[in-house]
Amino acid sequence: MSLRLEKVVKAFGNPPVEIIKGVSFDLKDGEFVSLTGKSGSGKSTLLYMMSTLDNPTSGRVFLEDQEITAMGSRELHRFRNRHMGFIFQYHYLLPEFTALENVLIPAIKAGNVAEKREYAMQLLESFDLKDRMHNVPGKLSGGESQRVAIARALIMNPQYIFADEPTGSLDSANAQNVMSIFQKINREHGCTIVYVTHDPEFAALAQKQIFLVDGQVKNIEVKKRAASRR
Ligand SMILES: Nc1ncnc2c1ncn2[C@@H]1O[C@H](COP(=O)(O)OP(=O)(O)O)[C@@H](O)[C@H]1O
Ligand SMILES: [Mg+2]
Repeated sequence: MSLRLEKVVKAFGNPPVEIIKGVSFDLKDGEFVSLTGKSGSGKSTLLYMMSTLDNPTSGRVFLEDQEITAMGSRELHRFRNRHMGFIFQYHYLLPEFTALENVLIPAIKAGNVAEKREYAMQLLESFDLKDRMHNVPGKLSGGESQRVAIARALIMNPQYIFADEPTGSLDSANAQNVMSIFQKINREHGCTIVYVTHDPEFAALAQKQIFLVDGQVKNIEVKKRAASRR
């Protein structure tokens, strides 16, 4: 198993109110996972704890058998930058940098930008952005910006992609396109992808669907893999 949650609890406020109420499950490498639930059910809070962006109040999170709840902050930053890609509802591109430069930001942080430049261009090309590469985000559409953000999340070849309502601000054609890109990168790169969505159709594309109700896992539905034909 590659990502494991053990009795994860998150409480906010004083007196503390439990928002995530003891969640345990594990994900295997390469799984394609959706996280659904009503607004306010704790999807974002859970995703942030799974992805090291936030700490549980109690309980433990393990990645590759390392307890991330016990890692120091420097170690955590490094781990995150090298092994995880994040995609949010809004793309958070840096407005004064071009699409290509935005994609290269994680590589700049890791100090291997020269090595990654070619790959950044390939990613942009594969997302149909070849002639948008040198545009700043102000000169890109919403769908184009979100594809740039996905390319940025992929530049380090992360083992994990975490996406919080990545299609939430897109029209249906662009949303479909983003989901197709997720399926493709899951298939081709073998990375584990966890995405939050409101859309039942998009949720149903996942191999493993996690349903959250009021801070607890109500149900996990796993699709049987089609038998491979020879
Ligand atoms: N930093 C915080 N401080 C206090 N309450 C929070 C905080 N973050 C989230 N919450 C509360 O936790 C609940 C779940 O939030 P969230 O995880 O964002 O739900 P979802 O993503 O499913 O809509 C909400 O009631 C929200 O107000
Ligand atoms: Mg949310």
